[in-house]
Amino acid sequence: MTAIGDGRLGVRISPGINLHGALETNVQETESTYRTLVDALSQLGLAYLHTIGNPDTPILRDLLQRFNGITIVNTGWDPETDLTTATGLIDSGRADLIAVGRPFIANPDLVERWQNGHPLNTPDASAFYGGTNQGYTDYPTLDASGHSFG
Ligand SMILES: Cc1cc2nc3c(=O)[nH]c(=O)nc-3n(C[C@H](O)[C@H](O)[C@H](O)COP(=O)(O)O)c2cc1C
Repeated sequence: MTAIGDGRLGVRISPGINLHGALETNVQETESTYRTLVDALSQLGLAYLHTIGNPDTPILRDLLQRFNGITIVNTGWDPETDLTTATGLIDSGRADLIAVGRPFIANPDLVERWQNGHPLNTPDASAFYGGTNQGYTDYPTLDASGHSFG
């Protein structure tokens, strides 16, 4: 933190997400652990706190409210992030920013597509974690008229 400054460091937490063998199965312990963590992080002047999971669950709502700084929300794996949900969370004040995963992987021009109501490419889940550029840098963009390139 002294090397880059507290305000340039963000932290992502994944309470109870239970992926890849990292298991938090005791709900009470998980919730009290994350409350303690977030209270401590609030003292540090971080750039942001980033969460994954439904922000309307009681524990995430509490963590997001008690954090003293900018919040970034990712709603989790199911459903995939969409524009309506993202803007709803911002407009209702439940998040300062929204993190987008799969739609951005599959749509290098996601911002323009969302702005103009254009259809989205479908992410190829079989290419996730694949170790090559396939499924990361080869999705087509749209031209100005909304037609697919490539
Ligand atoms: C290929 C891929 C790699 C990911 N790697 C990470 C990671 O290293 N750490 C992490 O916290 N989440 C990771 N995620 C999860 C995303 O940050 C995000 O929570 C998830 O994709 C759900 O959001 P979405 O509906 O916008 O895709 C990854 C997701 C994908 C598809």
